[in-house]
Amino acid sequence: MHTLQFLYLLLFSINIFFTNEIMGINNQNITIKKSTTTKINEVDFSNLSFGENFTDHMFECDYIDGKWTNAQIRPYGPISLDPSAKVFHYGQAIFEGMKAYKSVDGAVWLFRPEDNLIRLNKSAVRLAIPEFPKDLFFDGMELLLNIDKEWIQTTEGSSMYIRPFIIATEPGVSASPAKRYKFMFILSPAQSYYSGEVKVLFADKFSRSASGGVGFAKCAGNYAGQFYPTKLANEAGYQQVVWTDSSTHEKLEEAGTMNVFFRVGDTLITAPTSDRILDGITRKSVIAIAEKEGYNVEVRDISVYEIEEAAKNGTLLEMFGAGTAAVINPIVSFHFKGNDYDLPKLENSYASIIKKKITDIQTGKAEDPFGWKYAVRSI
Ligand SMILES: Cc1ncc(COP(=O)(O)O)c(C=O)c1O
Repeated sequence: MHTLQFLYLLLFSINIFFTNEIMGINNQNITIKKSTTTKINEVDFSNLSFGENFTDHMFECDYIDGKWTNAQIRPYGPISLDPSAKVFHYGQAIFEGMKAYKSVDGAVWLFRPEDNLIRLNKSAVRLAIPEFPKDLFFDGMELLLNIDKEWIQTTEGSSMYIRPFIIATEPGVSASPAKRYKFMFILSPAQSYYSGEVKVLFADKFSRSASGGVGFAKCAGNYAGQFYPTKLANEAGYQQVVWTDSSTHEKLEEAGTMNVFFRVGDTLITAPTSDRILDGITRKSVIAIAEKEGYNVEVRDISVYEIEEAAKNGTLLEMFGAGTAAVINPIVSFHFKGNDYDLPKLENSYASIIKKKITDIQTGKAEDPFGWKYAVRSI
C-alpha cells in the first residue's frame, strides 16, 4: 500500500475510534482530529506569561440553520472568517474564563463550571446570540481536557485556564444579529498569578457600564471600552481602575477583570451585582468563605466618600480584587480626585486567609464543603 494511503487509513480509523468513544459518553457526535505533533516541549512551564501559550488542540462548534452543529476537536490553529463577519463590525462576541486542576494521580477537576455556563448563556441572551447547550459544553470541554491532559501541570500553583467563547461568523455588514456563530474552547496553561503591588484609581470621569447596558455580560466590548481609561491610569502609575456608577461616580462597583472587596474595621463589604456589574464566581466564593469563617459580610452600595473617610480615620484595613485569574489580588493604595491613600500592611489579612481557603479547595489540598469541585470524566 502507498505510504500516503496507509497514513490516511490510519488517521481515518483514529478518527472513528475517538468518535465512537464520544458517542459512548453522551451521544454527542464530536469529531476528533488529533495533532500529529506537540508543542509541549517548547513551553517553559516554570515561567509562563498568563494567556500566551495554548495547548495542541481546540474545540469548535458552529451555529447554522438554527442549531449547534459540526462539533469537533482539531489541532490548535487559525480559523478562517469572511472579512464581513459580524463579529468584526458589531462586536457580537462573548467569552468566559475558568480553570482546571490536576492531581499527581492524574485526576482532573473544575471549579464551579456550571456557573460559567449559566453566565455565558446570560451574556448570550443579552447580545442576541443563541445559547449554548449544557451537554455539548461539558462533553466538548471534558474531551478537550482529556486530549490535552499532559499540558495540565501538577506543580504548586499550576492550572489550565479555559477560554470558552462565541463569535458571530455570518458574513454581511447589515447591523442586525448574525444567523451564524462559532463556539470555541481554547486552553492555556497557567501558574499562580501575582501582579505585584496593585495601586488603583477610582474612576471619576470614564465609565465601564451603564444601567440597562451590558456591564453584567462578559462581552468583548466591555473590555475594549476599558483599555483607553486604563492606559491613562497606567501612565499615571496605577495598575487598575475601580469603576464607579456612571451617573454619579460615587458608588464603587468593580475593577477591570475583578470584583472588589473593602474591609472597614472587621466588616467585609462588596457591591451588589446589578446590570452594570459582572456576577463574579470568585466574588460569590469569597462571600461564602468569609461567612463560613464568621466574618461580618455586607453586600451593599459603597460610597467613594465612605471609603475615603475610612482611609482617613484608619478604619479602612484592606481592599482586594477577586477574579478567576488571580483569585485574590490585594490592593495597596487608591487614588481619588487628586489624593492618594495607602492601606496598612496586615499580617493575617482577610485577603490572605480567604485566598488560602479558596485555593486549597481548588487545588484539592482541603475538603470542599461547598460542592464546588466538578470531577472531569476520564475518557
Ligand atoms: C469585569 C469582571 N469582573 C469580575 C470578574 C471576576 O469574575 P470571576 O470571578 O467569575 O472570574 C471578571 C473576570 O472574569 C471580570 O472580567
